[in-house]
Amino acid sequence: MRIVAAILAAGKGERFGGDKTSLLLGGKPVWRWSYETYLSHPEVDRVMVVTAPERLSSLGDGVWAVPGGSTRQESSRAALEAAKDADVLLVHDAARPFTKPSVISAVIEGIREAGAAAAGLPATDTIKQVRAGSVTTLDRNELFAMQTPQGATVEILTRAHNSGTVTQTDEMSLVEAIGVNPRIVPGDPNNFKITTPEDIVRARGMLATETR
Ligand code: CTP
Ligand code: MG
Repeated sequence: MRIVAAILAAGKGERFGGDKTSLLLGGKPVWRWSYETYLSHPEVDRVMVVTAPERLSSLGDGVWAVPGGSTRQESSRAALEAAKDADVLLVHDAARPFTKPSVISAVIEGIREAGAAAAGLPATDTIKQVRAGSVTTLDRNELFAMQTPQGATVEILTRAHNSGTVTQTDEMSLVEAIGVNPRIVPGDPNNFKITTPEDIVRARGMLATETR
C-alpha cells in the first residue's frame, strides 16, 4: 500500500494575522515540523507540501512542492491530484507542528479497516447549538474535536471530491457526504493547531520547557 502525505500550508492565516506556517519555531519553519515527522514515518512513502504559489520557492531544494488553492478544499484537491498514483492520501494541517508518529500510525490503521480515518479528541467542554436563537445542548459523549491527520484511500477521496460537496471544513466531512463512515482514532492534546497568535506562544513555550 503506497501512502502519500500532504502537508497543507497554503492558507492565509487570517485569524493569526499573516502567514503562520512559515514562522520560525525552534529554528525551523512551522510547516517543517510535521513535514519531518511524516518523512521519517516508516509507513509513509512520500510527503508533499501544498503551499501558496508565491511561497513555493521558499520551501527549499528537495521538497515536493505543490501549489494550493484559495480554500482548504481546493488545496486538499490539489494534493489528491498530485497523489493520484498512491493508494492512500493522508492530509495534515501544516499549522499542527507537534504530531506524534503513533497518531499517524493509528490513522493509517483506521484507513486499512474503514477506508477513511481521522484523529479526534473527545469534547471536554459542553457544546451548545444555537439555531435561529433556539439553544440545544448536544451530548458531549458524542462529540469530537477533529484534528489531522485525516485520510482515506485515493479511490474514496476521489469520489468524495467529485461528489460536489462544498461544505468541507475537513476531509472527513467530504467522505461522510458520500456515505463512507470514517474511523475516528484518538488524537493528542499537543497536536493543537496554531490558529491565533497565542498559539505560537504556546508552541514556543512547549519547546522551551520540553513538555512536548
Ligand atoms: N490551508 C491550505 N489552503 C487554504 C486554506 C488553508 O492549505 N486555502 C491550510 C493552512 O495553511 C493550515 C490548514 O489548512 O495549515 C488549516 O487551516 P487554518 O488553520 O484555517 O489556516 P488558515 O486558513 O491559513 O487560517 P485562517 O482560516 O485563519 O485564514
Ligand atoms: Mg482557514
